[in-house]
Amino acid sequence: MINILAIETSCDDTAVAVVREDYKVLSNCISSQLTHDKYGGVVPELASRLHIKNIMQVTDIALTKANLTLEEIDALAVSINPGLIGSLLVGVSFAKSLAYSLQKPLIAVNHMVGHIFAAKISNPNLQPPYLALIVSGGHTELVHFFSQREYKIIGRTRDDAAGEAFDKTAKLLNLGYPGGPIIDKLAQRGNPDFVSFPRALQRKDDFDFSFSGLKTAVRYYLNDHDDTFIQANLEDIVSSLQEAIVDSLVSKTIRYAKANRMETIIVVGGVSANSRLRGKMIREAEKIQKKASFPKLEYCMDNAAMIGAAAIEKHKSKEFANLDLNAFSKKGLRFV
Ligand code: KG4
Ligand code: ZN
Repeated sequence: MINILAIETSCDDTAVAVVREDYKVLSNCISSQLTHDKYGGVVPELASRLHIKNIMQVTDIALTKANLTLEEIDALAVSINPGLIGSLLVGVSFAKSLAYSLQKPLIAVNHMVGHIFAAKISNPNLQPPYLALIVSGGHTELVHFFSQREYKIIGRTRDDAAGEAFDKTAKLLNLGYPGGPIIDKLAQRGNPDFVSFPRALQRKDDFDFSFSGLKTAVRYYLNDHDDTFIQANLEDIVSSLQEAIVDSLVSKTIRYAKANRMETIIVVGGVSANSRLRGKMIREAEKIQKKASFPKLEYCMDNAAMIGAAAIEKHKSKEFANLDLNAFSKKGLRFV
């Protein structure tokens, strides 16, 4: 069976994985860059430098864990967009040099397509048509997939992405970066109805999202209450703001699935790790006899296994890249 070595360096994680043709993940290694925490966000130049420092070692570990040598790898896969251009270039240059020296095919993968294939790792039989909610640090898109490559974007965010909504509100509350996992954990002990934060764009025919109003509402709320009150009710406040984000995502997804008789919903991207989103989407989908599925937690956040999984199809159809392959930062879902 074909083994693909996949490389993902689009942001601040240096990730390398080995994925087999049947979607079995032989190894999935990630070196997360903790340096950025103190700046409250990713510093692009630091991220590129750390990728250069770490990528060889992470690759060695991924091969050792997969119990394979470089010569036993059949193809190289790499994410080429969207992302931080300096970071992407490290992965692309590294994958190109390996492909050249080993004389093995090179496969280019769009990072967002990678996120969708994360769902396929846990469920290899997953086939379109399905409705995909892609929620990450840079993207929020509701996409109707008719087939693997034919799709229509039903809705997208008009301002902040869902992940940004978590990260920016966490920053207002001085909770640390990235805010999503921190809010998720704190909110588990909180009351989601403690504060009624706004849910934007509620018209029935509007499938776009907007989270900047929520950020402003949280800012006003914090200005109106003193620190002692905020600290005493922190779990309830974060639970309420999480509920506003989750409600918008779930209600629009379920409404579209119901109106268009879509049987399968997949939720992917970093925010799909959110425990409230997972629970609520699954419950609401069951109520209308639909099935919502999520990648395993380890494949929700950026990882290289999802890039390898997306490359399997391309390997089958021999869609290989040349050595003049370049990275580019433009946002969006695209089958490169
Ligand atoms: O997909 P991802 O790892 O990177 C991008 O492609 O952007 O997504 C990162 C985003 C961050 O905004 C992070 O706060 C959010 O995913 N995130 C979460 C959770 N885990 C990660 N948001 C809410 N709840 C979580 N458990
Ligand atoms: Zn991502």
